[in-house]
Amino acid sequence: MTAILAIDQGTSGTKAIVVDADGGTVAIAEETVRPTYLPGGGVEQNPHELLDSVLTAGRRAVNMAGRPIAAVALANQGETVLAWDPATGTPLSPAIVWQDRRAESICTELAEHSAAIAERTGLVLDPYFSAPKMAWLRRHLTREGVVTTTDTWLVHHLTGEFVTDASTAGRSLIFDLDSAAWDGELADWFELGAERMPRIVASDEIVGTTRAFGQEVPVAGLIVDQQAALVAEACLEQGTAKCTYGTGAFLLANTGPEPVRSSAGLTTSVAWQADGQTLYCVDGQVYTVASAVRWLQDLGLVQSATELDQLVAADSEGVLCVPAFAGLAAPWWTPNATASFTGMTLATRREHLILALLQGIAAQVTELAALVGHDLGRPLTRLRADGGLTNSAALMQAQADIAQIPIDIYPSAHATPLGAAALARCALDPTLSLREAIGDWEPNTVYEPRWSADRAQEFRITWAQAATACAAKGD
Ligand code: G3P
Repeated sequence: MTAILAIDQGTSGTKAIVVDADGGTVAIAEETVRPTYLPGGGVEQNPHELLDSVLTAGRRAVNMAGRPIAAVALANQGETVLAWDPATGTPLSPAIVWQDRRAESICTELAEHSAAIAERTGLVLDPYFSAPKMAWLRRHLTREGVVTTTDTWLVHHLTGEFVTDASTAGRSLIFDLDSAAWDGELADWFELGAERMPRIVASDEIVGTTRAFGQEVPVAGLIVDQQAALVAEACLEQGTAKCTYGTGAFLLANTGPEPVRSSAGLTTSVAWQADGQTLYCVDGQVYTVASAVRWLQDLGLVQSATELDQLVAADSEGVLCVPAFAGLAAPWWTPNATASFTGMTLATRREHLILALLQGIAAQVTELAALVGHDLGRPLTRLRADGGLTNSAALMQAQADIAQIPIDIYPSAHATPLGAAALARCALDPTLSLREAIGDWEPNTVYEPRWSADRAQEFRITWAQAATACAAKGD
């Protein structure tokens, strides 16, 4: 009985897979979830829809697999929060999604503490993280019940426990990076000092049991989705890095057991706690990637993401895009920045806009990769990549061209749940190392740079000027 049900509860959907002992995916079920985009930067989800999607996708995958499962693993969005009644599990607010910018006022109020917050948490005082959202929710929506990230609520429904894992707690701004524990003073600054906080657990820890998917099995393998993909892509050594191209793009590099603070404007987080050790990573974010493609769809410019490669122009003819549809994160940290398309003429067609958008995403990831190299003390020589948009050869080629490094495409579309499953497997068998639980993998495609170094450099300079202009307008 060694199959694991691994659930990736993400921003745009929930994916449940059943994985057998050698890492083979024997069943997959997906449920779409639809965030609501509100004026003023609000992004919300219906908590019932999130829970239903977890239960429905999980049960469908187990039924499809037709075999007993040994454990349930859960990856979560990281910074999405809600209020709920701990006695009944009933939601008391919408889920406030990580892309929501409305807590910016809370961050502005705390600006005098920004250096201390950065030093203690490794993060930047920005509404992306969970504590500003919790504070905003308390001030504007409800003071009832508990306020937590979505993982705590989902796990409570599954097991009755009140827990979160260290990687998720580390995305809050009220978590001390060195001691890997809640920081009471930081919680006070966010007016969250009186809140009941979940117990912080390791990602290879069994946190309880559930009957939600059939017979009673342990729940283990709790982790942030980005960190789960870092595990699956075997970025286990210091200096190894991956980028996941999902709703947003998230570049994470393992920095080992020391919580190295970024001196380049990136953030430092817990990668995972496992094998009795806390490992750390630096990370950078492009907030809107699949979200930006969905925007193209909403405008009727493309029918689906699969159409991108058929429609994309060979050359953007000078059109440049900064895809800051939900603000700019590292290293600009301007939540109010907005996206831009520049260089358009009456000859500009949708295919130019599509290429400009894909190149804009690749250029922003390239800036992050350069900053990671700065923090690591040596440039990245390759980048592992996963996520739905790695299916776009145009995007991946643009990534290799602009970053001037090979891009190794992870061979499965399920990196995040596979990473969570590996951690759950370690929880079930403490003699198993994380590397053994992950197993070996080879990239299914490698994109090599085709642009000259000069062309890439010129593009990066022009794009960086456009990004700086977007950031200046958002200040
Ligand atoms: O930080 C937010 C990120 O982890 C969300 O990931 O897969 O839902 O886009 P995803």
